[in-house]
Order: sequence, then C-alpha cells, then structure tokens
Amino acid sequence: MKVTVVGAGAVGASCAEYIAMKDFASEVVLVDIKEGFAEGKAMDLMQTASLNGFDTKITGTTGDYSKTAGSKVAVITSGIPRKPGMTREELIGINAGIVKEVTENLVKHSPDVIIIVVSNPMDTMAYLVHKTSGLPKERIIGMGGALDSARFKYRLAEALESPISDVDGMVIAAHSDTGMLPLFSKATRNGVPVSEFLTDEQKASVIEETKVGGATLTKLLGTSAWYAPGAAVSVMVQSILCDQKKMIPCSLMLEGEYGQNDICLGVPAIIGKNGVEKIVNITLTVDEQLKFAEAAQAVREVNGDLKF
Ligand code: NAI
Repeated sequence: MKVTVVGAGAVGASCAEYIAMKDFASEVVLVDIKEGFAEGKAMDLMQTASLNGFDTKITGTTGDYSKTAGSKVAVITSGIPRKPGMTREELIGINAGIVKEVTENLVKHSPDVIIIVVSNPMDTMAYLVHKTSGLPKERIIGMGGALDSARFKYRLAEALESPISDVDGMVIAAHSDTGMLPLFSKATRNGVPVSEFLTDEQKASVIEETKVGGATLTKLLGTSAWYAPGAAVSVMVQSILCDQKKMIPCSLMLEGEYGQNDICLGVPAIIGKNGVEKIVNITLTVDEQLKFAEAAQAVREVNGDLKF
C-alpha cells in the first residue's frame, strides 16, 4: 500500500525513513515544493535500502500530485516549524494556507485517503482539514498525543530510574505547551500506578518537562524535533496499514465525546484500516476534566483565527 508524505523536511524525511525501515508499505511518495528536494531525499533514502534491508520503494516529486494517486494514507508535514521562543500557535498564518492547498491536492488524487496532520498548530490544522476536505471524520487524524505520550514516558522512566519499556502513560488534550494533559492518574510502572513511587515534587517536574518537551528541543536544536515526531507518525501509519487497532491518543473531531463539540483535541482512539475505528472513553479525574475543558477553550480561540 502506498503512503504519501507531504513536506520532505526534517519531520517528513524522518517519517519516510521509519516507515521504510519497518518495511510494511509498498511505496512512500515524498512531495515538496522546493525544486528537487523531495527527489533528493527519496534518492538518499533509497540508497540506504540495501544497507538497512528494506524493500519499500521511496520516490520524490516537486509538487506533482498525480504521483500520489491511490494513497491509502497521506501525512501532511509541510509548513514552517517554530524557532526558539515561538509557540506552535504563531505558525498559523503561513501553515493554514499550505495545509489547505495540500489537502485539496491530496483528496483530488486519492479520494479514499486517510490524512494524518502533523503541521502546527496541529489541533487547529486538523480542524481546518475537517472543515475543508469533505472527508469523513474517521479519515482525518492529528498527530500530537503519540509524540507527547512518548515524551511523557521518557520523563517518567527518567524519574523512576526504570527502563522505558516498564512504564506506560498517555498525554491527551491539546498539542501545545499549556494545553497538554499528561494523565498521571493512569500512568503505570509494570502495571502499578506511578503515584506510588514518586514524590509530589517529582510528579510536578515530570508533568512540566513533558509539556515543554518540544520547546526544550527547539531551544537545543534551533528548530523543532524530527526523530520522535517521525517515529510517532510511523507508528500511526503502521497501525492503519497493518490494521493493528492500536490505542493511540490522536487529535480527532469531537462530537460530544469528553464533553466537547466541533473541535479537534487529543483523545485515545483505536486506529486501524478505516482510520479512527473508535474513540475510547476513559474516566478522567475532576481536575483532569477541568484541564481538558481549559485546553479546549484555548484551542477554540486559535481556531477562531482560521479563515476558510
Ligand atoms: P521543515 O522546514 O524541515 O520541513 C517542512 C517542509 O515543507 C519543507 O521542506 C518545505 O519546503 C515544505 N513545504 C512548504 N510548503 C509546502 C507546500 N505547499 N507543499 C509541499 N511542501 C511544502 O519543517 P519540519 O521540522 O519538518 O516541521 C514540519 C511541520 O511539522 C512544522 O509545522 C512543525 O511545527 C510541525 N511539527 C509537528 C509536530 C507534531 O507533533 N504535530 C512535531 C514536529 C513538528
């Protein structure tokens, strides 16, 4: 099955690489607006095939969407990333225009496509795709929770001095520095609630480090991260293509779930061959419910800046 990745920059190329390395897709088409860039990235990645042992074919094109025809999944990473000190929300002006145009091109050539939105501000960009693409809501999925949960697990493992594979945890709500909601009440180490092992001070620190996880990397790298975002997308694409039905927190259009309507926010969902197979309702504490509602309010304000 064919996967298109629009934007052959840091995140797009990393995502294409992880997809190819796991060898579950027949073809990955990279698309970029910069002349020759996607072709170059595709060629470089193809030259790793015999070294890394995969058969996935990777091709590149400068904006020729006919090459993307028949894609099962398309990932939108095109747009600008933030620079140190910027919030994700500050990217809306440029990225909204790019995401809208890219979506039109993708749907024209692959009407049955499932779109994964990565470009920031992601919850608002996912909402834009819902409002402009005409696709059913099950086929539009925002990537944020998969990455933020991986960052949460990294911080939890660090605080617990445990191997990462022993810890589990999930981040829901908004993909923003203030709106992320790491679900401490549900986090576990080997099935045991982590609250048993950490002091209040450690808990507060894990939550804070998780929420500013992206900003910390942006400061260190001078631009936003790509390995973990690319890996997070590849896990979602694999769950769709291989119908794994994994539970992954994703930014989805809510119609009453978690008390919200007409907004894309991060919630746990089963991701399979049809895209979103089911939104999973988990019980939140009163404090978590309050924080979820606050995050929704902030995302609504950003959505208000969209022009359709
Ligand atoms: P980048 O600048 O390395 O790559 C973006 C690419 O998009 C560039 O190669 C550019 O030429 C291309 N592009 C721009 N307009 C285009 C168009 N109309 N059609 C096709 N390609 C176009 O940026 P990076 O680091 O890859 O980030 C991409 C986006 O992903 C940013 O908005 C960033 O904030 C977001 N991001 C989201 C994450 C998430 O968790 N949702 C995590 C990391 C980044």
